Amino acid sequence: MDIIYLDNAATSFPKPEETYVFMDQFYRTHGVNPGRSGFDLCMETGQLVDETRALLARFFNGTDPNRLVFGYNSTDTLNLALFGLLGPGDHAITTTIEHNAILRPLHHLATHSSVAVDHVPFDGRGFVDPAEIERRIRPNTKVVAVNHASNVIGTVQPVGEIGRICRERGVLLVVDASQTAGKIPIDVQAMHIDVLCFTGHKSLMGPMGIGGMYVQPHVEIRHTRAGGTGVRSIQRAHLDEYPWRMEYGTPNVPGIAGLNAGVKWLERRGLGQIEAHEMRLTRMLVDGLRAIPGITLYCQDDLAGHIAVVLFNVDGLEAGDAGTILDMDHNIACRTGLHCAPMVHEQLGTAAIHGGVRFGVGPFNTEAHIEAAIAGVRDIAAMRAKA
Ligand SMILES: Cc1ncc(COP(=O)(O)O)c(C=O)c1O
Repeated sequence: MDIIYLDNAATSFPKPEETYVFMDQFYRTHGVNPGRSGFDLCMETGQLVDETRALLARFFNGTDPNRLVFGYNSTDTLNLALFGLLGPGDHAITTTIEHNAILRPLHHLATHSSVAVDHVPFDGRGFVDPAEIERRIRPNTKVVAVNHASNVIGTVQPVGEIGRICRERGVLLVVDASQTAGKIPIDVQAMHIDVLCFTGHKSLMGPMGIGGMYVQPHVEIRHTRAGGTGVRSIQRAHLDEYPWRMEYGTPNVPGIAGLNAGVKWLERRGLGQIEAHEMRLTRMLVDGLRAIPGITLYCQDDLAGHIAVVLFNVDGLEAGDAGTILDMDHNIACRTGLHCAPMVHEQLGTAAIHGGVRFGVGPFNTEAHIEAAIAGVRDIAAMRAKA
């Protein structure tokens, strides 16, 4: 029996065929170090890297492709951004809806670099109030760092409104778009996002190990790493110009090729069409789960302002046990536990029961997958009720 994969919030699987084919093809024919030498193959490889920069800059409505820098994933570029923007005496505002990719770098900076950090809680429906962020702004507030959409409960935060406030108050907005890049449109200009960090292996349909960030032309991030760029090697100091300022060593060319193919696939399909498909299935899933006695859903009352991520628990059963039964008895892959976002579970009260069960719907899921997931949960809830 084929696996029913409902863990797309962790990583999308499978990828479009085009991603696999182009990675394989390009790496076989162009597996050389781009931008380091003058031979034709090297130039062509560099062209693909540049073309992908331009593709992604355009995808996020950025104006300067050189400000689109590649890293391993969003954790990597969030670290580059936060460590490069914040220093002793600075204040940062974040929220309790964050992934550890923001919480832990900020904790590190608070512990080792005297950066003060405030965490704004989300409301009962799972949204952060921009006015609450504004209230916390102090004269030394340098950065607001927020998750665009929660990887736990799927709520999309009002980033455009937060961005408007940040711009007016002279504070930089860093956005973790791990869950939204490739799922819903992102416009760094209209949303006043100063630094947008994304990962390639989720909804952008690329492979693991490639991600990046778009840094608006008015933002300067201090480099906290240094190394080879293939350009002006005589210079001892790391280069200040973008993209080299934020890139270090040999890039992930097969990853960039896969990301290139993934984004082109998204553009051909259309984000709106993919989102409509995923949200139709998510509606079906939420309605089906809600009809089962003994199921608690979290922040799923209204799917407006949501991505295709659903969190629930079977009353009286550990989330991990529910996940194991879904896997062993129903061949359904999902993610249980705290989802690297401990403060969300602390606020929901689910940390004490070891988190929740998360279904993440992707473009390749079908109605049959959703029906199987609902039937699987119904079985588990009935079993639990009898126990
Ligand atoms: C909201 C959010 N932020 C950050 C990350 C980290 O992504 P990556 O592991 O690709 O760096 C994830 C991945 O689960 C996420 O969902």
